[in-house]
Amino acid sequence: MNPARTPRFIQRHVADAAAERAEIERGLRRLPAQAAPKYFYDKLGSHLFEAITELPEYYPTRTEAAIFAAHGAAMAQHIGAGATLVDLGAGNCAKAARLFPLLEPRRYVAVDISVDYLHDALRRVQREHPALEVVGLGLDFSSALELPDDVTDGRTVFFYPGSSIGNFAPDEALAFLRRVHARASAGGLLIGVDLVKPAHILEAAYDDALGVTAAFNLNILRQINRLIDSDFDPAQWQHVGLYDAARSRIEMHLQARADVRVRWPGGSRVFEAGERLHTENSCKYTVKGFANLLEQAGFDAPLHWTDPKGWFAVFWARAR
Ligand code: AVI
Repeated sequence: MNPARTPRFIQRHVADAAAERAEIERGLRRLPAQAAPKYFYDKLGSHLFEAITELPEYYPTRTEAAIFAAHGAAMAQHIGAGATLVDLGAGNCAKAARLFPLLEPRRYVAVDISVDYLHDALRRVQREHPALEVVGLGLDFSSALELPDDVTDGRTVFFYPGSSIGNFAPDEALAFLRRVHARASAGGLLIGVDLVKPAHILEAAYDDALGVTAAFNLNILRQINRLIDSDFDPAQWQHVGLYDAARSRIEMHLQARADVRVRWPGGSRVFEAGERLHTENSCKYTVKGFANLLEQAGFDAPLHWTDPKGWFAVFWARAR
């Protein structure tokens, strides 16, 4: 009898506290100030994001799930069985695991910034799919896609759901898609993309009635305090979520409720009442615009599936 398989864990990303501190301080000194959205996701921030996905106003998660439920079998026919499935930003691995019966991968590579986030989920995946080769990879894939060669031999299918591609600026998104294309030889990319729609629907999704998105946005101040020993007081800041139609993007900001001085070791900054700290962009695409981006990145004639309202799309883009 073969011994039971166990997941393999590889940690590639090494956190550099000094570089992180310098990056945050640089962002706070800018005019207007900015903070990178990756700082939303400490433990509380990750729970708040999960709560956002349950909100009636936040349609992307459930709309994408409905598209996979309705069209997953058709997608699988195009994608084919037996690939290495690389799940970018895997989290609890639930979205990919739901597709296993259709995609029948031979190997599953879950990627997140730290393998610590992946241990429990991947042990569960392995228990439920004993024949699958399971790998957890700790990698900051937003800047470079350095996948170990022995986990991406053969046909590689990248999976990037949730419309996280929207959190890159369009030029960064193109660079990211080019890196994915370079690693997806004979495979491709299955990706979820949030689409342009009326401003009031978008703004409600990013400024919900319960204030969960506001708490998610404000929580970045606690995380910044922890990382650079600053003294932000979340009570002095107000959540702003606005749609910029010219740039097809939701912008999230924190706006000072009154004049505020924020101090950290070796520095400080005064924010006047109404001044903003820019925390996130969430770009929305048209089907045509995103298909063009995929083609510019080198993918062949992408296919897509949408929901009946045309609010969200899942693209399958084959690599040559
Ligand atoms: C993770 N990302 C796709 C979310 C989005 O919709 O841009 C993050 C988010 N920000 C506020 N609500 C959700």
